[in-house]
Amino acid sequence: MLELKNIRFTVPLAEAQEGETTRTILHNLSFTFEKGKFYAITGPNGSGKSTLSKLIMGIHKPAAGTMIFDGKDITNLSITERAKLGIAYSFQHSARFKGTTFRDLLSVAAESDDEGKLAQIIARVGICSMDFLDKPVDSKLSGGEIKKIELATTIARNPKLAIYDEPDTGIDLWTIGPMVELLKREQKDYNTTTIVVSHNKAFLEAADTLLLVKDGRIAYVGKLDGALPMLTDLSLCTFSDVCEGEFDARCYR
Ligand SMILES: Nc1ncnc2c1ncn2[C@@H]1O[C@H](COP(=O)(O)OP(=O)(O)OP(=O)(O)O)[C@@H](O)[C@H]1O
Ligand SMILES: [Mg+2]
Repeated sequence: MLELKNIRFTVPLAEAQEGETTRTILHNLSFTFEKGKFYAITGPNGSGKSTLSKLIMGIHKPAAGTMIFDGKDITNLSITERAKLGIAYSFQHSARFKGTTFRDLLSVAAESDDEGKLAQIIARVGICSMDFLDKPVDSKLSGGEIKKIELATTIARNPKLAIYDEPDTGIDLWTIGPMVELLKREQKDYNTTTIVVSHNKAFLEAADTLLLVKDGRIAYVGKLDGALPMLTDLSLCTFSDVCEGEFDARCYR
């Protein structure tokens, strides 16, 4: 349903280093996401997970490669055009909008301001009071509240492909289990192809397929069990990794 072919993403270097003017964040990445499946993407901080998600949504444009969605080449389509085709993205760092309420955002996403319809959507994400709809989406919201709003507006679009970038950030421990169940239910009930970027084991276990992204490459595809040795290897580096693997005089100043 979504085919990524040799996707490369580069950013300009602030200062040219050894003749290089760009830094490659994603290297010739290829993968096919299948219809109705649940994927988890994990990997170290800075490995390229959010970049990959933003490329799929069209927030970033690749330096090379193509993206085919339901047989259509979407490589050069805008965010809005991709949204119309049924792709939705939930940001890792949610935006806040002064002077806007949750109701405003949700009504746009659901293309309806019908109270009954909005009530059904907020119930799906575990918001149990209609009063929540009139909360301003500003800096006063807690980290967990803004994530729930982000989740609700993504689900309200009834997307064919939903990408959630770290939906569990700031969410209390007791809500993560229900959140995993909610996204699995959305996947099953609406046949939504679901991609969750997460470091949380609950999401990694729930996925049909886990992708491990490392240094801008897909280092593993499969079930969580098979990835565990690699994930253990990603633990913190030691002083000698930093200073002795490749001698760095700065360590001994
Ligand atoms: N527009 C940009 N300009 C410069 N560097 C960028 C840009 N976008 C991403 N990067 C760099 O690309 C790398 C990958 O970033 P990305 O946000 O995709 O990581 P991530 O895997 O989502 O990490 P995390 O787990 O911390 O969320 C980082 O080193 C980041 O600084
Ligand atoms: Mg990220």
